[in-house]
Amino acid sequence: MQAIRLKSDEIIQTYTLNAPVYDLWAALTERRARQHAIHFAAIQNGEQILEVAVGTGLTLDEIARRNPDGQTAGIDLTPSMLKRAQARMERNQRQNVSLQVGNAEHLNFPDHHFDLVVNNYLFDLLPEDRFVPVLREFKRVLKPRGRLVLTNMALGQKRSHRFYEWVYRLNPRFMGGCRGITLTAALGQAGFQIDRQHYLTQMGFPSELFLATPIHEK
Ligand SMILES: C[S@@+](CC[C@H](N)C(=O)[O-])C[C@H]1O[C@@H](n2cnc3c(N)ncnc32)[C@H](O)[C@@H]1O
Repeated sequence: MQAIRLKSDEIIQTYTLNAPVYDLWAALTERRARQHAIHFAAIQNGEQILEVAVGTGLTLDEIARRNPDGQTAGIDLTPSMLKRAQARMERNQRQNVSLQVGNAEHLNFPDHHFDLVVNNYLFDLLPEDRFVPVLREFKRVLKPRGRLVLTNMALGQKRSHRFYEWVYRLNPRFMGGCRGITLTAALGQAGFQIDRQHYLTQMGFPSELFLATPIHEK
């Protein structure tokens, strides 16, 4: 399904509106996938970690809890989502976390800097022609032996898992601009090897997760 192309200011507008209720939506539909993403990430304390599109900081909190002696960075396009993430870090006294407004398309970090890049529920709101360029940007900031963990709304494998596609068709903004996708082909085109892939549902909401590593060019 083609995504409506929400411009940056429309995304910010949508997620400024969604910020106060986002955690409730996430608890009902994304909690299990988020836990699985943390399992895929296999964080070792002391790592350089980036989460792209941190939202209200639900996954970031778990990353920072497991990485108190490392450096955890987070970016998001929407200041009001980021503000909630910052408040969560302060409330839970997470150490060595830095947050900034930023765009996944142009990460403000040097090449080969991170051991791990985590990104949840971003590609499902991007147009398909942005998948490979954004994945290449993730590859640029990853160390050659770094890991990438991705979670997105998936294409429903059963009819009952396609309810949210129907909601998207009704009005994409009801779904925060997100529709079901898969990144299998784009990961290969961007120079990643897929090490693990997992499909799960919560309240009928389908998610697909990947653990991928950069392919070394000879
Ligand atoms: C569906 S929410 C997911 C938030 C978080 N990753 C989570 O799993 O709870 C999508 C988030 O992506 C952010 N976002 C959208 N486009 C972005 C971009 N180009 N760069 C960085 N963040 C972006 C939005 O501001 C929003 O916080």
